[in-house]
Amino acid sequence: KKLIVAASCALALIAGGAQAQERSLRIAFDVPYEPFEYKDENGELTGFEVELAEAMCEEMNADCEFVIQSWDGMIPGLLARKFDLIMSSMSITPERAERVLFSEPYYNTPGGWFGPESFNTDVTDMDAMKGKTVGVQRGTTMDTHVTENMGGIVTIKRYTTADDMVLDLEGQRLDVVFVDYPVGEQTILPKEGFKEVGEPVKLGEGVGVAMRKRDADIAEKVNAALRTLKEDGTYDTIMQKYFAY
Ligand code: ARG
Repeated sequence: KKLIVAASCALALIAGGAQAQERSLRIAFDVPYEPFEYKDENGELTGFEVELAEAMCEEMNADCEFVIQSWDGMIPGLLARKFDLIMSSMSITPERAERVLFSEPYYNTPGGWFGPESFNTDVTDMDAMKGKTVGVQRGTTMDTHVTENMGGIVTIKRYTTADDMVLDLEGQRLDVVFVDYPVGEQTILPKEGFKEVGEPVKLGEGVGVAMRKRDADIAEKVNAALRTLKEDGTYDTIMQKYFAY
């Protein structure tokens, strides 16, 4: 059974002095990030990673609690023990792997470029991109990519949440956004007047569950559960539900 608590409430749990072994596993999601994690029309937390997390917890025979955490506080929150696992489409990168322990990858997502029908600029042509305004979610691999490759050329607008970024694209306050491909595909393309405007870019080595380095025992269970779910077809069933177009 899942219980959603705000990240700050999770702290109270720790303060309550529960034993680590008795405490449930707290898993953090940044929403909305459809189709990975978002709230449905009834306000229920759902999505590919939410269902994968549920199946994983069942497989591990663990009590799990779901925590909503904004993306910019993900790794700090994990290290501060506000929660125990991150399942928020976090791409595996060498920089992050210095601070957290990643499970085996359970998904792959490139960065995708999305803009209005009228956008006809080659996003890899830096002369043509000069002065354009690009939206990214702050602290993501897309942010890093744009900052490193287009810094000083384009105006970078960084957003705390992906939905605020999409709103600014709709409001014509952005020329283009760079976001995990499935998010653009499912939240931008269905809107009237938008299209994909460039080739997807591979960023990171897949998406994994992030944990504290000292929690190697949890990582072992997580990896074993993910393997079982891939073998027994559960993973494919969940995948098809959220990525069948
Ligand atoms: N995959 C990207 C990264 O690792 C973005 C993930 C953002 N996830 C989210 N739930 N908002 O940086």
